[in-house]
Amino acid sequence: MFKVNENFAKLPGSYLFAGIAKKVAAFQEAHPETEIIRLGIGDVTQPLAPAIIEAMHQAVDEMGKAETFRGYAPEQGYEFLRDVIAREDFQSRGCDISADEIFISDGAKCDAGNIQELFSPDSVVAVCDPVYPVYLDSNVMAGRTGLYHEETGKFDGVVYMPCTEANGFLPEFPKERADLIYLCFPNNPTGEAIKKADLQAWVDYANRNGSVIIYDAAYEAYITEEGVPHSIYECRGAKTCAIELRSFSKKAGFTGTRLGFSVIPKELVCGSASLNAMWSRRQGSKYNGTPYIIQRAGEAVYSPEGAKQVKEQIDRYMFNAKTIRDGLIDAGFTAYGGVNSPYIWMKTPNGMKSWEFFDYLLEKAGIVGTPGAGFGPSGEGYFRLTAFGTYENSLKALDRIKKL
Ligand SMILES: Cc1ncc(COP(=O)(O)O)c(C=O)c1O
Repeated sequence: MFKVNENFAKLPGSYLFAGIAKKVAAFQEAHPETEIIRLGIGDVTQPLAPAIIEAMHQAVDEMGKAETFRGYAPEQGYEFLRDVIAREDFQSRGCDISADEIFISDGAKCDAGNIQELFSPDSVVAVCDPVYPVYLDSNVMAGRTGLYHEETGKFDGVVYMPCTEANGFLPEFPKERADLIYLCFPNNPTGEAIKKADLQAWVDYANRNGSVIIYDAAYEAYITEEGVPHSIYECRGAKTCAIELRSFSKKAGFTGTRLGFSVIPKELVCGSASLNAMWSRRQGSKYNGTPYIIQRAGEAVYSPEGAKQVKEQIDRYMFNAKTIRDGLIDAGFTAYGGVNSPYIWMKTPNGMKSWEFFDYLLEKAGIVGTPGAGFGPSGEGYFRLTAFGTYENSLKALDRIKKL
């Protein structure tokens, strides 16, 4: 009889958002009259910007003519896209990143899940708590953790770095050995950002201890404050210790179109092994390239028109974020995030458990959010709301919450 990968059995239940979707569907079926406002899953609602659509149309036309048709895309991505990313996202910010350190992908979720393949099976993984679930789940599947304990909400063999009100939602350096350190800023789910000096301290820590930081900057485009780094490569020494993940999903509405990239600097080595070369080899074997049409769409995000249009979209979401955050605070709730990210991390009222608050909010107000405990034990007592809805719905949701 064949054997399965038993590590999968360690994973509790379903993927967080699949579980929430089931609950919401059951509620809607029982209450078809309720108009549900969805501020749960982090999916955008504004359509792709006109400059992006135009570039896609052009690329589609090219695909219909023999002279301009494209087949398999290069595994690392088309040069036209890697060049503009290197220039606009990195070099323009003083980061010494070149096109051959950029690997185009179909999104940051896949990259975040796959990147662990580069590391030894006995690597010790450190994650923030609460955390975007993919980093942890992918390492569980790969066998880098022990068993999960329902009572603590933790896996054996993982270094958890609590991000709480007490430490301003910034992780502290692990006391134990940590080989792979996952950091995400601006953070999902807490919505809080990291200042450059604090990120520099992490880079110094990683270089000192021989750790790698996997830095998820999926929400970089939402940064509004000065002194908040857009890339880890703004920090001295990051090229010898950090991989950065980026996504076009929240930056430009590509959640359904799929585009992202990883940055793996050539200086990132372990003895004679280059992680850049290893990832190139990995992509060569397992990835056949992001579609040409999508990469042209991605290029349009950097055109003057495209950049202006996506900025306007982000400004609209951030106006929602401010409305929700300020509204909650005015109404006497405690709320974080929402300044450099589209997420608001509210404290549940009266010490309610976060799943309890989820049910309460759905039943009494028809609002879907995400229970903090779904992101890790330190998320207990918190609730994540997103600013990705419409302004009208953000206001309506706020109004319903105030009336509870
Ligand atoms: C922190 C973080 N990283 C990555 C992703 C996934 O991005 P993508 O749509 O590019 O796969 C998300 C999506 O919600 C996210 O919150």
